[in-house]
Parts: sequence; structure tokens; C-alpha cells
Amino acid sequence: MKMTKRLIAVVLAAILVVAVFVGCSAKGGEETTGEKLVLATSADFPPYESIGDNGEYVGIDIEIAQAIADKLGRELVVENMDFDSIISSVASGKADMGMAGLTVTDERKESVDFSNSYATGVQAIIVPEGSAIKTVDDLYAEGAAYKVGVQLSTTADIYFSGDIEDGATTCTIEEYTSAQEAVSSLVTGKIDAVIIDNEPAKSYVAANEGLTILDTKYTEEEYAIAFAKGSELTAEVNAALDELIADGTVQQIVDKYIAA
Ligand code: ARG
Repeated sequence: MKMTKRLIAVVLAAILVVAVFVGCSAKGGEETTGEKLVLATSADFPPYESIGDNGEYVGIDIEIAQAIADKLGRELVVENMDFDSIISSVASGKADMGMAGLTVTDERKESVDFSNSYATGVQAIIVPEGSAIKTVDDLYAEGAAYKVGVQLSTTADIYFSGDIEDGATTCTIEEYTSAQEAVSSLVTGKIDAVIIDNEPAKSYVAANEGLTILDTKYTEEEYAIAFAKGSELTAEVNAALDELIADGTVQQIVDKYIAA
């Protein structure tokens, strides 16, 4: 009698274990461990990340992150926040990784680790059509007094703030928490120019009438994924990313959003 009870207990425990495993496996055939992969981003940066027509997150970074999550067998969870909060959110472990057209800089390397680079960016300048600003040099001309908008804590902010401090330019800077706000201010004439990465510049110019991008390339930079310092994820994600680059997946995603 005693043996039978024990047997029943064992069988019940086994059923429970199986039930838990079945419950954890994701819908859609993709095997996951049920573990989440929390992505910190700032969805104001098309074609890298933005909010789609149905309120879903779309863009190159989102799709690459999803492909990485699939490879790691984790469930991607996108956390949308101000760009300025991404590095601290990753550094503190609130998010597992940060992808936001995020440029690798020595200063950021002091607080986070970066993956291999998966894209390059170029800083561009958006002005209203017919603006007196014709080239980047006009922002650095003697006595120039233009109001230049940037997104807070972006490389554009860091460079241009630095140039003002160094006295390289007499223009002033306006910092906006979102890239969208900076562009809206340009459209309504509150500011004279916006410095932002080239592809988002193209997206915003396409979406707003009366804006144009100056020919001058401001600076070139590398985009990578940020992790907490010493995170074990860095190596795992790098391996997944390398595979996705090697098998053409990353290029396919880029081509979907950026016309050659
Ligand atoms: N590449 C620039 C930087 O790292 C701008 C990135 C802005 N990204 C965004 N999702 N708003 O500072």
C-alpha cells in the first residue's frame, strides 16, 4: 500500500514537470526557455526603431534583436524609453541589452560593454528648404547664431555641446528628449537645424514637407549593442550576431528598411 502511494506521488510529480515544460514553450513553434531578453530602446529613430501603424515596435534594431532572441531561445521584450535612459538602464541590469542606433564611444565604454558593430551611421544636418545654412561650415562661421537641435545625450549632442564649449561655434544648442520633438521644433521654425544620424534624417525628411539634408557628412560612427559590464550575454549575443551577419539575415533586414 505504501509503495503504491509513493508510485502515485512520483507519477504526479512527473506529470507536473511535463506540464510546466509544455507551458513554457512558446507559441509559433519557436523553442524558448521561457527566459526573457529585455531590450532597452528609444523608438523615435526610424528606420532603426519606431512605432508601427498598429502600435507595434518596428525597425532594423527590433528585427535584429528578435533574430538574436530566437537564436538564444529567449522571449524578446521591448522597453521603450528616452534615449538618455538607455545606457543607465542597461548598466544597472534593468534591461538585458540596449539597441538604439547606439554609437560606440569611449565614454560609453566606461559604463557598458559593446557587441561587435552591426551597422555604421553618419551624422547629418537637417535644415528647412531654402535655409541660409548651406554647409556644416556655416554653423562654425564667425558670429553664427543658429539654434541647433539635438536629441539629449546622443553623439550629436555630445559633439555640438563640445564645440560650443571649445568656442568652435557661436551657435546655441537645444536638447530634446526625443528625436521627434527636435524635428517638430524645426518644422515649426523654433530652431534652425537638427543634427541627427543620416538614415533617421532621411526618414524624418520624407515624413515632413519642407525639410532637406545638407550634403556635408558630419562624422561617421559604428552602431553596436550595449550590455552591462561583464555580462555573460555579450559573448552569446556576439556569436548569434556573427551568424546572422554571415548568413545574410542582417543584410536582409537592412535591405527591407533602407533602399540601396
Ligand atoms: N547614434 C547616436 C548615438 O548613439 C544617436 C542614437 C539615437 N537613437 C535613438 N533611438 N533615438 O548617440
